[in-house]
Order: sequence, then structure tokens, then C-alpha cells
Amino acid sequence: MKKTLFAIITILFLGTIARADEGMWIPALLQRNEAEMQAMGMKITADDIYSINHSSMKDAVVLFGGGCTGEIVSEQGLLLTNHHCGYGWIQRHSTMEHDYLTDGFWAMTPEEELACPGLTVTMLKNMVDVTDKILTNVTPETTDEERAEIVSKNIKRLVEEMQKRSEYEVSVESFYQGNQYFLMYNEVFRDIRMVGAPPSNIGKFGGDTDNWVWPRHTGDFSIFRIYVGPDGKPAEYSKDNKTYKPDYHFTISLKGVEEGDFTFVFGYPARTNEYLPAVAVNQEANVIYPVVVDLRTKILDIYNKYQEKDAKVRIQYANKHAGLGNGWKKWMGVIEGIRNFKGIEKKQAFEEAYLDWCMKTRSRIPYMHALKDFTPVYEEYEKYRMATTYFTEAGLSIELIEFAANFAQITEVTKDTPQEEIDELVNALKSAAAVFYKDYYQPIDEEVAIAMLKAYREAQPEDFRPEILNEIDRKFKGNVQSYVDYLFGKTIFTSEEKVNKFLDEFNPSKVKKLEKDPAIVAANSMMDFYVENVMAKSRECNTKINNLRRVYMEGQMKMIPEVYPERNLYPDANFTLRVTYGKVGGFKPKDAVTYRHYTTLDGIMQKENPNIYDYVVTDRLRELYEAKDYGRYADKDGSMHVAFIAGNHTTGGNSGSPILNANGELLGLNFDRTWEGTMSDLIYDPSICKNISVDIRYVLFLIDKYAGCQRLIDEMTIAE
Ligand code: ARG
Ligand code: GLU
Repeated sequence: MKKTLFAIITILFLGTIARADEGMWIPALLQRNEAEMQAMGMKITADDIYSINHSSMKDAVVLFGGGCTGEIVSEQGLLLTNHHCGYGWIQRHSTMEHDYLTDGFWAMTPEEELACPGLTVTMLKNMVDVTDKILTNVTPETTDEERAEIVSKNIKRLVEEMQKRSEYEVSVESFYQGNQYFLMYNEVFRDIRMVGAPPSNIGKFGGDTDNWVWPRHTGDFSIFRIYVGPDGKPAEYSKDNKTYKPDYHFTISLKGVEEGDFTFVFGYPARTNEYLPAVAVNQEANVIYPVVVDLRTKILDIYNKYQEKDAKVRIQYANKHAGLGNGWKKWMGVIEGIRNFKGIEKKQAFEEAYLDWCMKTRSRIPYMHALKDFTPVYEEYEKYRMATTYFTEAGLSIELIEFAANFAQITEVTKDTPQEEIDELVNALKSAAAVFYKDYYQPIDEEVAIAMLKAYREAQPEDFRPEILNEIDRKFKGNVQSYVDYLFGKTIFTSEEKVNKFLDEFNPSKVKKLEKDPAIVAANSMMDFYVENVMAKSRECNTKINNLRRVYMEGQMKMIPEVYPERNLYPDANFTLRVTYGKVGGFKPKDAVTYRHYTTLDGIMQKENPNIYDYVVTDRLRELYEAKDYGRYADKDGSMHVAFIAGNHTTGGNSGSPILNANGELLGLNFDRTWEGTMSDLIYDPSICKNISVDIRYVLFLIDKYAGCQRLIDEMTIAE
């Protein structure tokens, strides 16, 4: 009986895990995947993708800034990434006279390319497995605390030693929850210039409404360029710098994709948690996310109401809306995906198989304990996670309170504080105020405050919440509205003038008065509660969880090859370079609905609505559409393809990643996933987890036909 049950569980689970599409592979170990990739249609070798002995594709894939991927597409260091990745820079360069967000930006000559001080581009030069070195002196008897100490000492020593001998930036990264370590050598470029970006109604077409959703029609790209010093090495910005000559740049394919085509994505996925136990996934998807979604729904409804009424407010809250809305929508998808896909049940079935495996020999007892011990820790953790969630999502969503929290340092000024220090603080706060009030709209904040404080008070028990919430009961008879009236009526933080006046007149004797400001009182109360009652406990739980995860991972690394020999293990995403591969194809998201694998310009015209900001189409694009003036960028069906989906296992950070065909030629830029499959960060289902890419032919069409920036096309290598 036991045996058959085990077999059924195995089959049940295998059905979901042994698909080729799942996995974010370490490029240095890609030999292991080569046969499978080739069987799926790849015509090149693992060595073409990643090599340290000769130039390879990895020399053309970069970490763009701190959170996106980019790829090099010319001998002059031309770089493509997403519009939403370049967004901050496009915005920073925009002024009233030159509104590049609205109108787009095209450097028609090299001289017009704009410096972006602070922006870096990072390129992996080499990665070496140093697990043995890092785990030297770790034995089965080593305690968790000792282990942490030994590991951090070993890392520090190795990095110091290697840094002395290398021109690159050296670091050690942990894989498989601390079961494997790699030494990374990175080259960091510091003179990056902005070269082009389409107008937002192309680069952000569909806005937050279409975000995470298929069918999609977003021209989500922007263009940058890497410059280096006269010696060809990374350098700070100088007008004498020259364009970077890469070891490799991608050839662009104009052939497009068809259903079933092999593709791979090469980039910097940030974080996944595929090996969590069921209790953790349950807490994440069924306890925490619903609260976050609920709080954000309340806030976004308020934003929407005012944004629709007033064009100025729409702009002021556009970025805040996008920031909150991105996670909000994604987590709704995760909650639903886990439920529909029976994610928890599948994890539980796996855990039964795992425990059976553990029971087979005595030496596996620690692996069994690791899994079982999660339950009490997560039980304890829930209270603190919830408190953290309300603190950050409800408390700090009140902009006034979040901004007032910046004044914590100035309340510590005394008679003995040197005047220069005070001046510096005052100036920093004045600059912060200028930025903050430019996009601050008090009626929104007041309504958000009422909604959030109500939710906070209802959800968190009296003995486990910031004092200020209890004061609403004591001093305002539990009437949140009266408290909020008082808060906004009495504080100086509702107006930039009042804040600046206070800062202009600031001296140590004013600290007392500031401390009584109700926004400061509220901010302090929330922060104090968090620091005193939540933070340390949260950390303690986290340390326990991380130790258990390491041992549970080690157990899985032994069990899976034995029990599921066909399953190839891969480490969770950790912001290091990865390769993932899968086939182009539509899917069936729900009963009676089928998605085709690509979208076209026709869809943009269908969505067009001059009255809705996210769906405005410019005259120029409409003219090109009406004239069908697509040149060589048209698909062989005659239409302009805009985006397509494929079964690549991607996550945040993969934005801007190149999606490549069987020959390693550029097909497009990854920029999103389909909503139904967003659970793939926790558990992957190949039938609904799809990545969304903008078709490179649409990108080139926009650069060439829409913007007339022929010089950029000329420097690219294009395979017709
Ligand atoms: N969902 C994508 C990501 O996670 C795109 C976000 C930017 N686009 C937007 N409409 N907010 O980053
Ligand atoms: N848009 C995401 C990013 O900025 C990529 C989409 C995803 O999470 O898969 O990285």
C-alpha cells in the first residue's frame, strides 16, 4: 500500500516538475543542459553561450543599474533594455521644455547622447566554484552560529585575497541556500549614456491596466550606450571617453518566432523561492499576500479617484501608483495561481515523498527534522510578519508619516551638535522636501490615512500595535476621522512652506517643539513599536528559517537525484547571471479561453482610446499603421508583430533580458510574465507560466520608421 501511494505521489509530482521549461541555470555549468537544449532545437553549444576562454554571448549581457538586464547590440557598445528600466533616467533628463517621457528621446548624433551619472552597467567576467574554500572548517558538528561565523570569515578572507590580484570587482555569492558558493569577477562600467526612448504612450502602452497581462502591446524598450576611457577600461564620465568595443554583441534576427520555436533568455533574475516548504508557501500566498493586496486595493482606489479627476494629480501619483500596483497585481495572480494549480497540495505531496526518503537511513534524520521544524518557526513568525506588513504597508503608506520619519535625526540635535552638521542636515531635509512636495496631494493622503489607520487598528491586537493607535481610542473615542483631522490640522508637514520655515529658523531649542508635532509623534510611535517589538524577533525567526532552509535544501539536493533522477536541480534566483529556456507558444489560461502566442499593431489600434491616458496612440504611429509602412520589419504575414510569449522561467530582474533563438540571435526583450503564471516564483507550472517579450522587429521599426534614427540601425548587425 505504502509503495503504491509513493508511486502515485511520485507520478503526481513528476508531472509538474520534470518539464524542460522550468529552471534558471548557472551559465558556467550549462554543459549539463546542452543536450536537452539541443534536443529542443538549439543549434549552438553551451560554450557559445558561456565561455571564459573565448568571447561568448555572456560578454553581451549586463546587469543594468541595480535591478534590470541589458544586452549589447553593436560594436560601439549600444545597449538595449526595457523602457521601465530606463524610466528613471528618462524622467531625470526631462524638463518642461524637453519632456522625454511624453515625447520620447532620440539622440540623432553621438553628441546628443546624455550622460547618466550614477548609472552603472555590470558585466560578469568569470565565476568559479569556491564551495570548498568557503566551507573549510565546517563539520557536521558545527552549530548554526559557528557556521555563520566561519562562512563570513572565509568569504571576507577570500574576497580580500582575490581582490588584490584582480582588476575586476570580486565578490562571493551563495547558491542553494548556502550549500554552494561562487566567486564572481565583475567589470563595472560607469559612463553610460542615454541614447533613445520611445514616448511613454508606446513604451508604457497599456500602463498599469495591461501590466502582467496577456495579450500585451507595450513597446517596452530604451537605448543606452557604454563609454570607456581612452585605454578601453571603465571610467567615470568624461567627454573624451570613447564608445566601448565589446568582445561580443548580439546579431538581430528579423525572422520572428513561430509556435514551438526554441528560445532562451539570458539575464539577471532577482529572487525566487522554489524550494520552500508548504507551510511557508501557505503563509506567503494565503496569509500575507491577501493582507497586502487588500491594503493596496484601498490605497489604489483612492489614488484612482483623484487621478481621474485631475491631470496634475495623475502625473504626481503616476509613479507611486505604478510602484504599488505592480506588486498588488502580481500577488493577486500568485494567490489565484497557487489555488488553481493546487500548489500547496503539490508541495505537501512532495514532502511526504521526502519524509519517506528520510526514513530510509539514520543519517537522514537531520533532513527530516529540518522539514518538520519549519512548522513551529513559521507559526511564531506569522505574528511578526503581520506586524511588519501593517507597519510598512499601512503605516508607512501615509505619506505624511513616512516623510516625517526622515526628521528623526534632526530631533537628536543638541546644544553640542556642531553648526556644520546642523546645516548639512537642514540642507538635506530641504532637498528632500522639494522632491516630496512636488508630488504630494494632501486630500489623497488624508483619505489614505483614514483607510490605513482603520485597517491597522482592526487587524492588530491592542497589546501588539503602535501606541498611537491606542491613543485614537483614548483621546479620540476611537474615531479615526477625528484623529486624522487633528493630525493634518496641527502638523507642519502638510506644506512645504511650513517645513522650510521651520528649517530656516531651526536651532537646537526647536527640537522640543518638533517632537510634539503630531506627524513626528505618529512616525516615532510606529517606528518605536517596530524596532522594539518586531524587528529583533523577526530577525531571529529569519535566522532560524534560513538555517532550516539550508539543511532542507541539502536534503532535497540528495533526495531529488535519487527519487526523481530525471529532474535537474537549479538554484533559486539570486541576482546572478542565469540562462533559462523554453518554447514559444500560446496557452489556455482558463476554461474556454485560448491565447495566441503573439500580438500585432492591429491590437494597439483596437485598444486605442484618446480619452484614456494609457491607450493614446500618436498620429505618427497611426499614419505608419495606415500606410502599412513596416519595411523589412513586417512579419511574413504582412503585419507588424509587437510582443510574444514563451515558456521561459523568468522573474523580476529579467526585465530587459535578451530572448534569443536557436542560433543565439536576438528575437526581443523580455519585460513581463503572464498574470496567471506569476506564482512561478514559488512553484512553476509550464502550462501557464509564460514570459512576455517585445518583438525586436517592433523595436527596430520604431527606431527606424517612427523615430528616423537610422544611425542606430546602421551600427547593428541584422540577419534578414
Ligand atoms: N510587471 C513588470 C515588472 O514587474 C513591469 C512593470 C512596469 N510596468 C508598469 N506598467 N508598471 O517589472
Ligand atoms: N517586469 C519585471 C522586471 O522588472 C520582469 C517580469 C517578471 O517579474 O517576470 O524585472
